[in-house]
Amino acid sequence: MSARFIALEGGEGVGKSTQARALAAALRARGIDVVETREPGGSPGAEAIRTLLLEGSADRWGPGAEALLFAAARADHVEKTIRPALAAGRWVLSDRFLDSSLAYQGGADRIATDALLGLHAVGSGGLLPDRTLLLTLPEAEAQARAMARDRGAADRFGARPAGYHAAVARAFTAIAAAAPERFAVVDARGVPEAVTARLVAAIADLL
Ligand code: TMP
Repeated sequence: MSARFIALEGGEGVGKSTQARALAAALRARGIDVVETREPGGSPGAEAIRTLLLEGSADRWGPGAEALLFAAARADHVEKTIRPALAAGRWVLSDRFLDSSLAYQGGADRIATDALLGLHAVGSGGLLPDRTLLLTLPEAEAQARAMARDRGAADRFGARPAGYHAAVARAFTAIAAAAPERFAVVDARGVPEAVTARLVAAIADLL
């Protein structure tokens, strides 16, 4: 079976990280060798950039510097982790990828999509996932879940106001609608096992 690159996307509180673990387990149960990774991070250099991005005061970086740092982290992640795994015939499942930059830095922070795609071309050779799975929840439910998870200890992004996260969610929906050949939009409501089953169904044609 040929190597595949799958990305899992969504706003805060949609259960993305739990589902990344569950989907990886479901793939392994089918005999697939899968590398679980995440952004920002997924390689030593990118994990160092992750700390810079997520910790510290709200005004530590402006939107332009953040866009550059996410693109730099992604470049290292692609070069050191993703491309070598795919070249070895392994599957890669990444908790977030480029579409997070298009939604957060593009949709919410208003950095132009063309500029973000330009950074991605320079840093990562324009690599795109074979399938991007977008988890969606009604805004109030996502907010309640994110608050229960963070308990007042949200990172620099999680701590942003509800309007910011609403803009991110709208952007994700629009990005998915514009690229239906690459995206599957998956309802994140219900028990975790049901959501995992929906995710597996959304990549059934790749299995
Ligand atoms: P996480 O909560 O999934 O670990 O991601 C950390 C935060 O970084 C999350 O709030 C989304 C944000 N983020 C961006 O703003 N742009 C990006 O390109 C990525 C990968 C994450």
